[in-house]
Amino acid sequence: MTNQRRVTLVNEENQSVCELPVLSGTTGPDVVDVQDLYKKTGMFTYDPGYTSTASCSSKITFIDGEAGILLYRGYPIEQLAEQCTFLEVCYLLLNGELPTSSQMDQFEHSVTMHTMVHDQLTNFFKGFRRDAHPMAIIVGVVGALSAFYHDALDITNKKDRDLCAIRLIAKIPTIVAMSHKYSIGLPFMHPQNKLSYVENFMRMMLATPCDDFHPNPILVKALDRILILHADHEQNASTSTVRLAGSSGANPYACITAGIACLWGAAHGGANEAVLNMLEEIGDISHIDPYIKKAKDKNDPFRLMGFGHRVYKNYDPRAKLMRATCHEVLNELGLHDDRLFKLALELERIALEDEYFIEKKLYPNVDFYSGIVLRALGIPSNMFTAMFAMGRSVGWIAHWDEMISDPEQKIGRPRQLYTGSTRRDVVPMAAR
Ligand code: SDX
Repeated sequence: MTNQRRVTLVNEENQSVCELPVLSGTTGPDVVDVQDLYKKTGMFTYDPGYTSTASCSSKITFIDGEAGILLYRGYPIEQLAEQCTFLEVCYLLLNGELPTSSQMDQFEHSVTMHTMVHDQLTNFFKGFRRDAHPMAIIVGVVGALSAFYHDALDITNKKDRDLCAIRLIAKIPTIVAMSHKYSIGLPFMHPQNKLSYVENFMRMMLATPCDDFHPNPILVKALDRILILHADHEQNASTSTVRLAGSSGANPYACITAGIACLWGAAHGGANEAVLNMLEEIGDISHIDPYIKKAKDKNDPFRLMGFGHRVYKNYDPRAKLMRATCHEVLNELGLHDDRLFKLALELERIALEDEYFIEKKLYPNVDFYSGIVLRALGIPSNMFTAMFAMGRSVGWIAHWDEMISDPEQKIGRPRQLYTGSTRRDVVPMAAR
Protein backbone atom coordinates (compact mmCIF):
# COMPACT_ATOMS: atom_id res chain seq x y z
CA MET A 1 0.00 0.00 0.00
CA THR A 2 2.80 2.45 0.84
CA ASN A 3 4.46 4.26 -2.04
CA GLN A 4 7.54 6.48 -2.03
CA ARG A 5 5.62 9.75 -2.10
CA ARG A 6 5.16 11.96 0.94
CA VAL A 7 3.28 15.18 1.42
CA THR A 8 4.74 17.93 3.55
CA LEU A 9 2.56 20.03 5.82
CA VAL A 10 3.92 23.58 5.99
CA ASN A 11 3.02 26.50 8.29
CA GLU A 12 2.33 30.14 7.30
CA GLU A 13 6.12 30.78 7.11
CA ASN A 14 6.42 27.92 4.66
CA GLN A 15 8.40 25.86 7.18
CA SER A 16 7.85 22.11 7.20
CA VAL A 17 5.64 21.00 10.13
CA CYS A 18 5.67 17.32 9.30
CA GLU A 19 5.88 14.85 6.46
CA LEU A 20 3.06 12.40 5.88
CA PRO A 21 3.22 9.16 3.88
CA VAL A 22 1.03 8.70 0.80
CA LEU A 23 -0.65 5.32 0.30
CA SER A 24 -1.76 3.84 -3.03
CA GLY A 25 -4.47 1.25 -3.53
CA THR A 26 -4.76 -0.98 -6.61
CA THR A 27 -6.80 1.73 -8.35
CA GLY A 28 -8.45 5.03 -7.37
CA PRO A 29 -7.04 8.16 -5.72
CA ASP A 30 -4.04 7.97 -3.37
CA VAL A 31 -4.62 8.78 0.29
CA VAL A 32 -2.55 10.75 2.80
CA ASP A 33 -1.87 8.63 5.88
CA VAL A 34 -2.66 10.94 8.84
CA GLN A 35 -2.43 8.29 11.58
CA ASP A 36 0.63 9.96 13.12
CA LEU A 37 -0.55 13.54 12.60
CA TYR A 38 -1.55 14.17 16.22
CA LYS A 39 1.64 12.57 17.54
CA LYS A 40 3.75 14.74 15.22
CA THR A 41 1.83 18.06 15.36
CA GLY A 42 -0.73 17.99 18.22
CA MET A 43 -3.47 18.62 15.60
CA PHE A 44 -6.33 16.48 14.28
CA THR A 45 -7.98 16.58 10.86
CA TYR A 46 -11.50 18.04 10.65
CA ASP A 47 -13.85 16.33 8.16
CA PRO A 48 -17.58 16.37 9.07
CA GLY A 49 -19.46 13.82 6.98
CA TYR A 50 -16.10 12.19 6.07
CA THR A 51 -16.07 13.85 2.65
CA SER A 52 -12.28 13.43 2.36
CA THR A 53 -11.56 10.55 4.70
CA ALA A 54 -10.86 6.87 3.93
CA SER A 55 -11.96 5.13 7.13
CA CYS A 56 -10.38 1.80 6.21
CA SER A 57 -8.81 -0.16 3.37
CA SER A 58 -11.07 -2.67 1.63
CA LYS A 59 -10.89 -5.21 -1.20
CA ILE A 60 -14.65 -5.56 -1.74
CA THR A 61 -16.08 -2.75 -3.89
CA PHE A 62 -14.62 0.04 -6.01
CA ILE A 63 -16.43 3.17 -7.23
CA ASP A 64 -15.10 5.74 -9.67
CA GLY A 65 -17.65 8.47 -9.05
CA GLU A 66 -16.39 10.77 -11.82
CA ALA A 67 -16.61 8.05 -14.49
CA GLY A 68 -19.74 6.35 -13.08
CA ILE A 69 -18.00 2.98 -12.59
CA LEU A 70 -18.93 0.38 -9.98
CA LEU A 71 -16.98 -2.87 -9.50
CA TYR A 72 -17.69 -5.70 -7.03
CA ARG A 73 -14.38 -7.53 -6.41
CA GLY A 74 -13.18 -6.09 -9.74
CA TYR A 75 -16.19 -7.14 -11.84
CA PRO A 76 -18.30 -4.39 -13.50
CA ILE A 77 -21.82 -4.16 -12.09
CA GLU A 78 -23.24 -4.32 -15.65
CA GLN A 79 -21.69 -7.78 -16.25
CA LEU A 80 -22.75 -9.10 -12.86
CA ALA A 81 -26.32 -7.84 -13.34
CA GLU A 82 -26.49 -9.43 -16.79
CA GLN A 83 -24.73 -12.74 -16.20
CA CYS A 84 -24.99 -13.70 -12.54
CA THR A 85 -27.64 -14.42 -9.93
CA PHE A 86 -27.87 -12.57 -6.63
CA LEU A 87 -26.61 -15.62 -4.71
CA GLU A 88 -23.57 -15.86 -7.03
CA VAL A 89 -22.89 -12.19 -6.26
CA CYS A 90 -23.27 -12.92 -2.53
CA TYR A 91 -20.65 -15.66 -2.85
CA LEU A 92 -18.38 -13.27 -4.74
CA LEU A 93 -18.70 -10.48 -2.18
CA LEU A 94 -18.09 -12.84 0.73
CA ASN A 95 -15.28 -14.93 -0.77
CA GLY A 96 -13.58 -12.65 -3.29
CA GLU A 97 -14.08 -14.97 -6.31
CA LEU A 98 -17.03 -16.11 -8.39
CA PRO A 99 -18.07 -19.67 -7.43
CA THR A 100 -17.51 -22.80 -9.50
CA SER A 101 -20.66 -24.77 -10.14
CA SER A 102 -20.06 -27.15 -7.19
CA GLN A 103 -19.19 -24.25 -4.85
CA MET A 104 -22.40 -22.58 -5.97
CA ASP A 105 -24.51 -25.69 -5.34
CA GLN A 106 -23.08 -25.99 -1.85
CA PHE A 107 -23.56 -22.29 -1.08
CA GLU A 108 -27.14 -22.30 -2.38
CA HIS A 109 -27.88 -25.42 -0.35
CA SER A 110 -26.50 -23.84 2.85
CA VAL A 111 -28.57 -20.69 2.34
CA THR A 112 -31.72 -22.74 1.61
CA MET A 113 -31.17 -24.79 4.79
CA HIS A 114 -31.17 -21.63 6.93
CA THR A 115 -34.21 -19.76 5.60
CA MET A 116 -36.52 -20.75 8.47
CA VAL A 117 -36.44 -18.62 11.59
CA HIS A 118 -36.58 -19.96 15.15
CA ASP A 119 -40.24 -20.39 16.00
CA GLN A 120 -39.87 -18.21 19.11
CA LEU A 121 -38.80 -15.34 16.88
CA THR A 122 -42.36 -15.12 15.58
CA ASN A 123 -43.43 -13.94 19.06
CA PHE A 124 -41.51 -10.70 18.57
CA PHE A 125 -43.83 -9.58 15.77
CA LYS A 126 -46.84 -9.68 18.07
CA GLY A 127 -45.29 -6.99 20.28
CA PHE A 128 -45.51 -4.42 17.47
CA ARG A 129 -48.53 -2.31 16.59
CA ARG A 130 -50.00 -3.62 13.36
CA ASP A 131 -49.51 -0.23 11.69
CA ALA A 132 -45.81 -0.03 12.66
CA HIS A 133 -43.50 0.82 9.75
CA PRO A 134 -41.97 -2.46 8.49
CA MET A 135 -38.46 -0.99 8.95
CA ALA A 136 -39.22 -0.51 12.66
CA ILE A 137 -40.24 -4.16 12.91
CA ILE A 138 -37.20 -5.35 10.94
CA VAL A 139 -34.83 -3.32 13.15
CA GLY A 140 -36.38 -5.03 16.20
CA VAL A 141 -36.53 -8.57 14.83
CA VAL A 142 -33.06 -8.68 13.19
CA GLY A 143 -31.69 -7.23 16.45
CA ALA A 144 -33.45 -10.08 18.26
CA LEU A 145 -31.45 -12.61 16.20
CA SER A 146 -28.52 -11.66 18.46
CA ALA A 147 -30.44 -13.23 21.35
CA PHE A 148 -30.71 -16.51 19.43
CA TYR A 149 -27.11 -16.64 18.19
CA HIS A 150 -24.79 -15.17 20.78
CA ASP A 151 -23.12 -17.63 23.18
CA ALA A 152 -22.33 -20.14 20.42
CA LEU A 153 -20.79 -17.50 18.14
CA ASP A 154 -17.07 -16.80 18.37
CA ILE A 155 -16.36 -13.84 16.09
CA THR A 156 -12.64 -14.67 15.98
CA ASN A 157 -13.49 -18.02 14.36
CA LYS A 158 -13.83 -17.81 10.55
CA LYS A 159 -16.24 -20.79 10.43
CA ASP A 160 -18.57 -19.06 12.89
CA ARG A 161 -18.40 -15.84 10.87
CA ASP A 162 -19.20 -17.72 7.63
CA LEU A 163 -22.21 -19.39 9.26
CA CYS A 164 -23.37 -16.02 10.54
CA ALA A 165 -23.23 -14.63 6.96
CA ILE A 166 -25.23 -17.59 5.62
CA ARG A 167 -27.83 -17.21 8.38
CA LEU A 168 -28.22 -13.52 7.71
CA ILE A 169 -28.58 -13.86 3.91
CA ALA A 170 -31.01 -16.75 4.41
CA LYS A 171 -33.21 -15.28 7.12
CA ILE A 172 -33.51 -11.66 6.02
CA PRO A 173 -36.04 -12.44 3.22
CA THR A 174 -38.13 -14.49 5.67
CA ILE A 175 -38.13 -11.65 8.23
CA VAL A 176 -38.82 -8.97 5.59
CA ALA A 177 -41.79 -10.97 4.23
CA MET A 178 -43.06 -11.64 7.78
CA SER A 179 -42.96 -7.93 8.61
CA HIS A 180 -45.20 -7.28 5.59
CA LYS A 181 -47.63 -10.10 6.34
CA TYR A 182 -47.87 -8.97 9.95
CA SER A 183 -48.69 -5.39 8.96
CA ILE A 184 -51.57 -6.48 6.69
CA GLY A 185 -52.90 -9.15 9.05
CA LEU A 186 -52.16 -12.17 6.85
CA PRO A 187 -50.55 -15.43 8.02
CA PHE A 188 -46.78 -15.85 7.77
CA MET A 189 -45.72 -18.03 4.83
CA HIS A 190 -42.99 -20.59 5.59
CA PRO A 191 -40.05 -20.84 3.16
CA GLN A 192 -40.13 -23.60 0.53
CA ASN A 193 -36.84 -25.33 -0.22
CA LYS A 194 -37.68 -26.28 -3.80
CA LEU A 195 -37.85 -22.61 -4.83
CA SER A 196 -34.94 -20.35 -5.74
CA TYR A 197 -33.91 -17.56 -3.35
CA VAL A 198 -35.99 -14.89 -5.13
CA GLU A 199 -38.95 -17.16 -5.96
CA ASN A 200 -39.09 -18.18 -2.32
CA PHE A 201 -39.07 -14.54 -1.18
CA MET A 202 -41.79 -13.58 -3.68
CA ARG A 203 -43.97 -16.42 -2.46
CA MET A 204 -43.46 -15.57 1.23
CA MET A 205 -44.16 -11.91 0.46
CA LEU A 206 -46.97 -12.05 -2.09
CA ALA A 207 -48.76 -15.42 -1.83
CA THR A 208 -51.28 -16.67 0.71
CA PRO A 209 -51.93 -20.25 1.89
CA CYS A 210 -55.21 -20.16 -0.09
CA ASP A 211 -53.66 -20.10 -3.56
CA ASP A 212 -50.95 -21.79 -5.59
CA PHE A 213 -48.04 -19.54 -6.47
CA HIS A 214 -46.60 -19.45 -10.00
CA PRO A 215 -43.70 -16.98 -10.19
CA ASN A 216 -43.23 -15.13 -13.48
CA PRO A 217 -39.57 -15.77 -14.53
CA ILE A 218 -39.16 -12.25 -15.95
CA LEU A 219 -40.28 -10.68 -12.68
CA VAL A 220 -38.10 -13.09 -10.68
CA LYS A 221 -35.10 -12.09 -12.81
CA ALA A 222 -35.93 -8.40 -12.32
CA LEU A 223 -36.06 -8.73 -8.53
CA ASP A 224 -32.85 -10.77 -8.54
CA ARG A 225 -31.17 -7.95 -10.47
CA ILE A 226 -32.50 -5.33 -8.05
CA LEU A 227 -30.87 -7.25 -5.20
CA ILE A 228 -27.56 -7.41 -7.13
CA LEU A 229 -27.66 -3.64 -7.70
CA HIS A 230 -28.12 -3.04 -3.96
CA ALA A 231 -25.67 -5.69 -2.73
CA ASP A 232 -22.77 -3.41 -1.82
CA HIS A 233 -21.54 0.15 -2.20
CA GLU A 234 -18.24 0.44 -0.30
CA GLN A 235 -18.20 2.71 2.77
CA ASN A 236 -21.74 4.19 2.51
CA ALA A 237 -23.42 5.42 5.72
CA SER A 238 -25.05 2.12 6.73
CA THR A 239 -21.97 0.00 5.97
CA SER A 240 -19.77 2.43 7.91
CA THR A 241 -22.30 2.14 10.75
CA VAL A 242 -22.00 -1.66 10.71
CA ARG A 243 -18.20 -1.38 10.74
CA LEU A 244 -18.20 1.13 13.61
CA ALA A 245 -20.64 -0.95 15.68
CA GLY A 246 -18.64 -4.10 14.92
CA SER A 247 -15.31 -2.50 15.78
CA SER A 248 -16.07 -2.91 19.48
CA GLY A 249 -16.50 -6.68 19.03
CA ALA A 250 -20.32 -6.50 19.33
CA ASN A 251 -22.66 -9.28 18.22
CA PRO A 252 -22.85 -9.21 14.38
CA TYR A 253 -26.66 -9.34 14.21
CA ALA A 254 -26.78 -6.30 16.50
CA CYS A 255 -24.25 -4.57 14.21
CA ILE A 256 -26.33 -5.35 11.10
CA THR A 257 -29.33 -3.90 12.92
CA ALA A 258 -27.40 -0.66 13.41
CA GLY A 259 -26.86 -0.64 9.63
CA ILE A 260 -30.57 -1.22 8.96
CA ALA A 261 -31.44 1.70 11.26
CA CYS A 262 -29.02 3.96 9.37
CA LEU A 263 -30.33 2.83 5.99
CA TRP A 264 -33.89 3.81 6.97
CA GLY A 265 -33.24 7.57 6.66
CA ALA A 266 -34.55 9.42 3.59
CA ALA A 267 -31.06 10.67 2.66
CA HIS A 268 -29.96 7.00 2.33
CA GLY A 269 -32.08 3.87 1.68
CA GLY A 270 -35.33 5.60 2.63
CA ALA A 271 -35.04 7.60 -0.59
CA ASN A 272 -36.74 4.90 -2.72
CA GLU A 273 -39.96 5.25 -0.71
CA ALA A 274 -39.55 9.05 -0.73
CA VAL A 275 -39.17 9.05 -4.56
CA LEU A 276 -42.52 7.36 -5.04
CA ASN A 277 -44.20 9.72 -2.55
CA MET A 278 -42.61 12.64 -4.41
CA LEU A 279 -43.82 11.40 -7.82
CA GLU A 280 -47.33 10.96 -6.43
CA GLU A 281 -47.17 14.47 -5.01
CA ILE A 282 -45.99 15.98 -8.33
CA GLY A 283 -48.82 14.00 -9.93
CA ASP A 284 -48.53 15.19 -13.52
CA ILE A 285 -45.87 16.14 -16.07
CA SER A 286 -47.34 19.65 -16.19
CA HIS A 287 -46.43 20.15 -12.51
CA ILE A 288 -42.72 19.31 -12.84
CA ASP A 289 -41.40 22.85 -13.30
CA PRO A 290 -42.59 24.26 -9.94
CA TYR A 291 -41.05 21.23 -8.17
CA ILE A 292 -37.72 21.76 -9.96
CA LYS A 293 -37.85 25.39 -8.74
CA LYS A 294 -38.56 24.21 -5.18
CA ALA A 295 -35.63 21.74 -5.34
CA LYS A 296 -33.27 24.58 -6.32
CA ASP A 297 -34.53 26.98 -3.65
CA LYS A 298 -32.11 27.08 -0.68
CA ASN A 299 -34.95 28.26 1.60
CA ASP A 300 -37.20 25.34 0.67
CA PRO A 301 -36.36 21.98 2.31
CA PHE A 302 -37.70 20.09 -0.75
CA ARG A 303 -35.02 18.18 -2.69
CA LEU A 304 -35.41 15.92 -5.72
CA MET A 305 -35.42 12.50 -4.07
CA GLY A 306 -33.40 9.87 -5.93
CA PHE A 307 -31.09 12.59 -7.27
CA GLY A 308 -27.53 13.40 -6.24
CA HIS A 309 -24.83 11.32 -4.63
CA ARG A 310 -21.78 11.90 -2.43
CA VAL A 311 -19.51 9.90 -4.72
CA TYR A 312 -21.14 9.83 -8.18
CA LYS A 313 -20.65 13.06 -10.09
CA ASN A 314 -21.91 11.23 -13.16
CA TYR A 315 -24.83 8.89 -13.87
CA ASP A 316 -25.05 6.21 -11.15
CA PRO A 317 -24.49 3.00 -13.19
CA ARG A 318 -27.10 1.25 -11.04
CA ALA A 319 -29.74 3.82 -12.03
CA LYS A 320 -29.15 3.05 -15.73
CA LEU A 321 -29.62 -0.68 -15.10
CA MET A 322 -32.64 0.04 -12.91
CA ARG A 323 -34.23 2.15 -15.66
CA ALA A 324 -33.73 -0.71 -18.16
CA THR A 325 -35.26 -3.14 -15.64
CA CYS A 326 -38.19 -0.78 -15.28
CA HIS A 327 -38.84 -0.97 -19.04
CA GLU A 328 -38.62 -4.80 -18.98
CA VAL A 329 -40.99 -5.22 -16.04
CA LEU A 330 -43.56 -2.69 -17.24
CA ASN A 331 -43.53 -4.23 -20.74
CA GLU A 332 -44.00 -7.71 -19.30
CA LEU A 333 -46.96 -6.53 -17.25
CA GLY A 334 -48.48 -4.53 -20.11
CA LEU A 335 -47.95 -1.28 -18.20
CA HIS A 336 -46.07 0.58 -20.97
CA ASP A 337 -48.04 3.71 -20.16
CA ASP A 338 -47.37 3.68 -16.42
CA ARG A 339 -48.12 7.23 -15.26
CA LEU A 340 -45.36 7.43 -12.64
CA PHE A 341 -42.69 5.94 -14.92
CA LYS A 342 -43.50 8.49 -17.63
CA LEU A 343 -43.40 11.22 -15.01
CA ALA A 344 -40.02 9.97 -13.69
CA LEU A 345 -38.52 9.85 -17.23
CA GLU A 346 -39.67 13.41 -17.90
CA LEU A 347 -38.47 14.63 -14.50
CA GLU A 348 -35.06 13.11 -15.21
CA ARG A 349 -34.94 14.72 -18.68
CA ILE A 350 -35.84 18.18 -17.39
CA ALA A 351 -33.47 18.01 -14.40
CA LEU A 352 -30.53 16.84 -16.54
CA GLU A 353 -31.01 19.85 -18.85
CA ASP A 354 -31.24 22.32 -15.94
CA GLU A 355 -28.17 24.49 -15.22
CA TYR A 356 -28.44 23.94 -11.41
CA PHE A 357 -28.31 20.12 -11.72
CA ILE A 358 -25.61 20.26 -14.43
CA GLU A 359 -23.41 22.58 -12.40
CA LYS A 360 -23.75 20.54 -9.18
CA LYS A 361 -23.40 17.25 -11.12
CA LEU A 362 -26.66 15.86 -9.77
CA TYR A 363 -27.80 12.69 -11.57
CA PRO A 364 -30.38 9.99 -10.77
CA ASN A 365 -29.11 7.53 -8.16
CA VAL A 366 -30.06 3.88 -7.49
CA ASP A 367 -33.25 4.92 -5.69
CA PHE A 368 -34.77 6.97 -8.52
CA TYR A 369 -36.28 4.10 -10.54
CA SER A 370 -36.26 1.23 -8.03
CA GLY A 371 -39.59 2.20 -6.44
CA ILE A 372 -41.38 2.10 -9.79
CA VAL A 373 -40.13 -1.44 -10.50
CA LEU A 374 -40.89 -2.62 -6.98
CA ARG A 375 -44.40 -1.17 -7.13
CA ALA A 376 -45.00 -2.97 -10.44
CA LEU A 377 -43.83 -6.22 -8.79
CA GLY A 378 -46.57 -5.77 -6.19
CA ILE A 379 -44.33 -4.56 -3.34
CA PRO A 380 -46.02 -1.77 -1.33
CA SER A 381 -44.05 1.46 -0.95
CA ASN A 382 -43.56 1.11 2.81
CA MET A 383 -41.54 -2.07 2.03
CA PHE A 384 -39.14 -0.45 -0.45
CA THR A 385 -36.40 0.33 2.07
CA ALA A 386 -36.75 -3.18 3.49
CA MET A 387 -36.04 -4.50 -0.04
CA PHE A 388 -32.88 -2.37 -0.12
CA ALA A 389 -31.89 -3.83 3.28
CA MET A 390 -32.44 -7.34 1.93
CA GLY A 391 -30.00 -6.73 -0.94
CA ARG A 392 -27.48 -4.83 1.21
CA SER A 393 -27.29 -7.43 4.01
CA VAL A 394 -24.56 -9.32 2.15
CA GLY A 395 -22.50 -6.14 1.74
CA TRP A 396 -22.84 -5.34 5.44
CA ILE A 397 -21.77 -8.81 6.56
CA ALA A 398 -18.93 -8.96 3.99
CA HIS A 399 -17.54 -5.66 5.35
CA TRP A 400 -18.01 -6.80 8.94
CA ASP A 401 -16.09 -10.00 8.17
CA GLU A 402 -13.33 -8.11 6.35
CA MET A 403 -12.97 -5.76 9.31
CA ILE A 404 -12.88 -8.48 11.97
CA SER A 405 -10.21 -10.42 10.04
CA ASP A 406 -8.06 -7.32 9.43
CA PRO A 407 -4.95 -7.49 11.68
CA GLU A 408 -4.88 -3.66 11.76
CA GLN A 409 -8.46 -3.52 13.08
CA LYS A 410 -9.06 -1.37 16.15
CA ILE A 411 -12.12 0.17 17.72
CA GLY A 412 -13.44 3.12 15.69
CA ARG A 413 -13.05 6.29 17.73
CA PRO A 414 -13.20 9.64 15.88
CA ARG A 415 -12.08 12.83 17.62
CA GLN A 416 -13.79 16.24 17.55
CA LEU A 417 -13.27 19.97 17.38
CA TYR A 418 -14.67 21.04 20.75
CA THR A 419 -16.68 24.30 20.60
CA GLY A 420 -18.49 24.19 23.99
CA SER A 421 -17.82 26.04 27.26
CA THR A 422 -14.31 26.00 28.66
CA ARG A 423 -13.76 24.88 32.26
CA ARG A 424 -16.12 26.53 34.77
CA ASP A 425 -17.38 25.85 38.33
CA VAL A 426 -20.83 24.68 39.37
CA VAL A 427 -22.85 27.47 41.03
CA PRO A 428 -25.24 26.18 43.75
CA MET A 429 -28.84 26.05 42.47
CA ALA A 430 -30.06 28.82 44.77
CA ALA A 431 -27.48 31.18 43.31
CA ARG A 432 -28.12 30.47 39.58
C1 SDX B 1 -28.12 6.13 -1.33
O1 SDX B 1 -23.27 6.62 -0.31
C2 SDX B 1 -23.87 5.62 -0.82
O2 SDX B 1 -23.25 4.81 -1.37
C3 SDX B 1 -25.37 5.57 -0.66
C4 SDX B 1 -26.11 4.65 -1.66
C5 SDX B 1 -25.77 3.17 -1.36
O3 SDX B 1 -25.84 2.37 -2.29
O4 SDX B 1 -25.53 2.84 -0.20
O5 SDX B 1 -25.77 4.96 -3.01
C6 SDX B 1 -27.64 4.74 -1.52
O6 SDX B 1 -28.23 6.50 -0.20
C7 SDX B 1 -28.45 7.02 -2.51
C8 SDX B 1 -28.85 8.45 -2.13
C9 SDX B 1 -30.32 8.49 -1.80
N1 SDX B 1 -30.71 9.81 -1.33
C10 SDX B 1 -31.42 10.68 -2.04
O7 SDX B 1 -31.74 10.44 -3.21
C11 SDX B 1 -31.86 11.94 -1.32
C12 SDX B 1 -31.65 13.16 -2.19
N2 SDX B 1 -30.21 13.39 -2.37
C13 SDX B 1 -29.54 14.19 -1.47
O8 SDX B 1 -30.06 14.60 -0.27
C14 SDX B 1 -28.01 14.21 -1.58
O9 SDX B 1 -27.68 14.33 -2.92
C15 SDX B 1 -27.21 13.05 -0.94
C16 SDX B 1 -27.62 12.83 0.53
C17 SDX B 1 -27.46 11.79 -1.70
C18 SDX B 1 -25.71 13.40 -0.98
O10 SDX B 1 -25.44 14.40 -0.08
P1 SDX B 1 -24.03 15.19 -0.03
O11 SDX B 1 -22.95 14.42 -0.64
O12 SDX B 1 -23.84 15.62 1.41
O13 SDX B 1 -24.26 16.44 -0.94
P2 SDX B 1 -25.00 17.78 -0.56
O14 SDX B 1 -26.31 17.45 0.12
O15 SDX B 1 -24.06 18.66 0.21
O16 SDX B 1 -25.29 18.35 -1.98
C19 SDX B 1 -24.37 19.21 -2.70
C20 SDX B 1 -25.17 20.32 -3.30
C21 SDX B 1 -25.97 21.13 -2.25
O17 SDX B 1 -26.10 22.43 -2.74
P3 SDX B 1 -25.06 23.59 -2.23
O18 SDX B 1 -25.15 23.63 -0.73
O19 SDX B 1 -23.71 23.14 -2.71
O20 SDX B 1 -25.56 24.82 -2.91
O21 SDX B 1 -26.17 19.79 -4.22
C22 SDX B 1 -27.48 20.12 -3.74
C23 SDX B 1 -27.33 20.46 -2.24
O22 SDX B 1 -28.35 21.32 -1.80
N3 SDX B 1 -28.29 18.89 -3.86
C24 SDX B 1 -29.55 18.83 -4.32
C25 SDX B 1 -29.90 17.48 -4.30
N4 SDX B 1 -28.87 16.74 -3.84
C26 SDX B 1 -27.88 17.63 -3.57
N5 SDX B 1 -30.40 19.78 -4.74
C27 SDX B 1 -31.64 19.38 -5.13
N6 SDX B 1 -32.04 18.09 -5.12
C28 SDX B 1 -31.18 17.11 -4.73
N7 SDX B 1 -31.55 15.82 -4.70
